Amino acid sequence: MEIIRARDYDHMSRQAANILSAQVILHPESVLGLATGSSPIGAYRQLIEWYDKGDVDFRRVHTVNLDEYVGLGPEHPQSYARFMRENFFDRVNIPRENTHIPDGTNPDTEYECARYDALIRGLGGVDLQLLGLGPNGHIGFNEPADCFTKGTHRVELTEATIRANRRFFDDEADVPRFAYTMGILDIMQAQRVVMVVSGAGKAKIVHEAFFGPVTPRVPASILQLHRNFTLVADEEALSAC
Ligand code: F6R
Repeated sequence: MEIIRARDYDHMSRQAANILSAQVILHPESVLGLATGSSPIGAYRQLIEWYDKGDVDFRRVHTVNLDEYVGLGPEHPQSYARFMRENFFDRVNIPRENTHIPDGTNPDTEYECARYDALIRGLGGVDLQLLGLGPNGHIGFNEPADCFTKGTHRVELTEATIRANRRFFDDEADVPRFAYTMGILDIMQAQRVVMVVSGAGKAKIVHEAFFGPVTPRVPASILQLHRNFTLVADEEALSAC
């Protein structure tokens, strides 16, 4: 595990964008595993800026997103499909057919999870997986549990996650209770994993996840065992370490 200590959110975002753009420049056909949420937005913004300058080209890239809320279609303002279009896909030259997100409207859980895992396998796996860190240590929507779940699955979101995500919805009652998420094995099989974390609010969980025992109670802790994991965190997020 490697830690890149950034000064603040903007610095963290540029450092992560540097790693992502190097990946795409060196390997233009990369499969990128992508995350939503506040943490990666700055990195996406930086990549868009470099794309506008002609410094990075996403034409041959494929992407697989970590997760999607069950019940939200791609046009729903809070769906992760929409988030990705607005914050990244619509603003770079990645072909739309190369971008993949679990289908939150598919009621057939077994089919959807098997379809998504087969899709990742069919692409040859993820070359670089970008992650954020949930306030309870989740990665993707792999919530704290008694065991790690390997493949894509439907998960019931914990109260902590519902509370944290409430800020994006008008009312707490509108926050979906279930999501589809890539599993821990899907994430661990990525060739390289990069996590962005910012802010004092994440300091305690950063310490637990990366300086404590590896346990499914803190799902991100499994990343300590990944052979090519880079944590890009700002001073505040690292303040308890
Ligand atoms: C989002 C995701 C989540 C977030 C995590 C942190 O696709 O998989 O694990 O990365 O909840 O969210 P933020 O960055 O909003 O603090």
